[in-house]
Amino acid sequence: MSQLRGDYKSVWNSLSGSKQDAYLVVSGYTDEDKFHADAEDTMDVLRETVGIRPDDTFLEIGCGVGRVGRVLSPFIREWVGCDVSANMLRLAGRRLLGLTNTRLQEISGYDLRPIPDASIDVVYTTVVFMHLEEWDRYNYVLEAKRVLKPGGRFYCDNVDLASPAGWAVFEESRLRFKPSERPSQISKCSTQPEIETFLKRAGFADVQVAGRLDFWVYGWGRKPAA
Ligand SMILES: C[S@@+](CC[C@H](N)C(=O)[O-])C[C@H]1O[C@@H](n2cnc3c(N)ncnc32)[C@H](O)[C@@H]1O
Repeated sequence: MSQLRGDYKSVWNSLSGSKQDAYLVVSGYTDEDKFHADAEDTMDVLRETVGIRPDDTFLEIGCGVGRVGRVLSPFIREWVGCDVSANMLRLAGRRLLGLTNTRLQEISGYDLRPIPDASIDVVYTTVVFMHLEEWDRYNYVLEAKRVLKPGGRFYCDNVDLASPAGWAVFEESRLRFKPSERPSQISKCSTQPEIETFLKRAGFADVQVAGRLDFWVYGWGRKPAA
């Protein structure tokens, strides 16, 4: 492992030095049309879980190059993209040019400190938890609850260790890398009980977890009214 996994800023800035590198690490490809189609899929999941309403302010933790923000922002009041990497945010800024209801915010990698309490309707994070330590996943769940308005909604996902494809991800990483050679950003799965525990411990109500496509685990919930 060349860099400490938990030093997210340095790890993710070095992975996103060029547009091509950033696109590849976000999605595994650089094709803008496929990016768009994938973002539509993410929108469908958000619609089915937390819902998308025209008056909503959405905040994404780990927004990358704005894959989702670009497609989502026309349907909502405002989209706030937060990321630990200034390189990612620079690229996101270019992709979102002209979308005047989008805003980008660099964060420390451990919290949402620049975001005021009770100011957001929906916080979501997608394709990010697999790159975080469990404690940092939970810190973001707590932070999401802080920045949400009463009644606000939270969504997160990860690869499901208990799914066949999730187990394949786990085994591939175990067999491919010697312990000292594991990449800092290597994907680490979650389970439905982990996600459910984090949301319930953080105090979310109406917590639900589900699997999808024999690969993903999703969790979502609502911040109780004050
Ligand atoms: C695989 S990309 C996913 C990007 C975006 N969510 C998407 O689905 O297109 C992971 C993103 O999370 C960001 N990231 C990694 N660790 C983070 C942390 N601790 N806090 C905030 N963002 C983080 C990376 O910089 C990168 O942009």
